[in-house]
Amino acid sequence: MKTQVGIVGAGPAGLVLARLLELRGISSVVIEARSRDYVEQRVRAGVLEQRSVDCLTEAGVADRLHEEGMVHHGIELRFGGQGHRIDFSALTDGKSITVYGQQEVVKDLIAARLASELPLLFEVSDVSVDVDRPAVSFTHDGSAVELECDVIAGCDGFHGICRDAVADHLTVFERVYLFAWLGILAHSKPSSEELIYANHERGFALHSMRSPSVTRSYLQVSPEEDIDEWPDERIWEELNARFALDSGFSLNEGEIFEKGVTPMRSFVVEPMQHRKLFLAGDAAHIVPPTGAKGMNLAIADVEILAAALESFAASGDESGLQSYSEDCLRRVWRVQHFSFFMTSMLHRPENQDPFEAQLQRAQLDYVCSSEAAARSLAENYVGLDRV
Ligand code: FAD
Ligand code: PHB
Repeated sequence: MKTQVGIVGAGPAGLVLARLLELRGISSVVIEARSRDYVEQRVRAGVLEQRSVDCLTEAGVADRLHEEGMVHHGIELRFGGQGHRIDFSALTDGKSITVYGQQEVVKDLIAARLASELPLLFEVSDVSVDVDRPAVSFTHDGSAVELECDVIAGCDGFHGICRDAVADHLTVFERVYLFAWLGILAHSKPSSEELIYANHERGFALHSMRSPSVTRSYLQVSPEEDIDEWPDERIWEELNARFALDSGFSLNEGEIFEKGVTPMRSFVVEPMQHRKLFLAGDAAHIVPPTGAKGMNLAIADVEILAAALESFAASGDESGLQSYSEDCLRRVWRVQHFSFFMTSMLHRPENQDPFEAQLQRAQLDYVCSSEAAARSLAENYVGLDRV
C-alpha cells in the first residue's frame, strides 16, 4: 500500500488533517486502533474557538456544527458567592466561541471521509512506524499491511506509539496536577446561558452544556477518586454547593447518563518532528482542560502541517516542514501558559496554604475588575489569531 501521508489516529487531529489534505489534492490513509463506534461515542472536549470553527467551515464539514452548535459571547467566573461575566464580544471585537461536543466534530469528519470514499481503517493493531523509510506497519482484518508514505503524521494522542518511536530525540516538559476532574453528562436544561467556572472553598466546578436539554458539568476531585463513591445525589449536592450564590442558585437536575474521572497534566515534547514523522495534537502536547484548548490546539497544529505539506507536494519545498515544530510550539506554549493560569486561578489544592489562597482571590478580583486583565483572559479564551 502506498500514499503520500500516513496518518496514525482518527481523533480531531488525524481527521482534520486528512480532510485538509483531501482538499489540497494530497493522498492519505488514516488508521485508527479503535472502532468507529468507540471514537464517535468518546466524550471529551466541548468548546471550539472561532478559528477552529472557521477551519471546519472552510473544510466543508461544519453544516451540523452551525445548526446545532451554541454560540457563546462570554463566560461567568463565580467566587465568593458572586457571579462575574467576562464579555468576550465586547473585549475582543465581537469574537465568540461555539459549544459543540468533540465527538460530534469527529462524527462529521468521519462521515465526510467516508462520503469521499477515502481510506479510513478502524480497529487496526500492531501499529509501528519506521521514520527512516518512512512507512507504517499494522494489522488490519487479520492481514499484515505495510503502508509506504512520504511523510507520517503522528496524530495518535497521548497514549499512542508515534511519540515513543522517536522518544530518544525529544525533550519532555511536564507538570502533573494533584487534582482531576469528575465529568458528567445529564439530561437537564442548562442552568445558565453561558459556561460557569466556579472557584469555591470545596474546590473548582464547571457548568457546561451540549444542547438545550443536555448539560456537561465537572467537579475538581482527587486523581485517585473512586467514581463508585459518587452516586448521582452526591454529585448534584456537591455541584450545588460549589455554584452557590449569595442571591440564591440551584442547578436544573436530571438523569446522569455518563460519568468519568480525567487526570490533569501539562505536557509538551520538543521538537514536534523527527525526520519524516510529524507529531500533532495530544501526541505532542496535553493541556489541563480549564482553558478549553485541547481540541483547538490539535486543529491549529494540523492547519500548519497541511499548509507545509501542500508546498512540499507542489514543489518539493521543505521549508514549511522544517519550521513545522517551531511554528506550532509558539502557540503550544502560549496555550500552555493560559491553561496553567486558568487552572491555578480556579482550583483549590488540598491543604491550600493561606497565602496562596489570598493570591488566588486577588487574581480573581483583578480579572473581574480590570478591563485590561479581563481582555487578556478573553482574547486567550476565544483564541489568538496570531501567536
Ligand atoms: P485523540 O483525540 O486522543 O485522538 C487520537 C486517536 O489515535 C484516538 O482515536 C486513538 O484511539 C488513536 N490511537 C491511539 N493509538 C493508536 C495506534 N497505535 N494506532 C492507531 N490509532 C491510535 N479537552 C478539553 O478542552 N476539554 C475537556 O473536557 C477534555 N476532556 C478530555 C477527556 C479525556 C479522557 C481526554 C483523554 C482528553 C480530554 N480533552 C479535553 C482533551 C481533548 O479531548 C484532546 O486535546 C483532543 O482529543 C486531541 O485530539 P487528538 O486528535 O490529538 O487526540
Ligand atoms: C466541556 O464542555 O466539556 C468543557 C468546557 C470548557 C472547558 C472544558 C470542558 O474548559
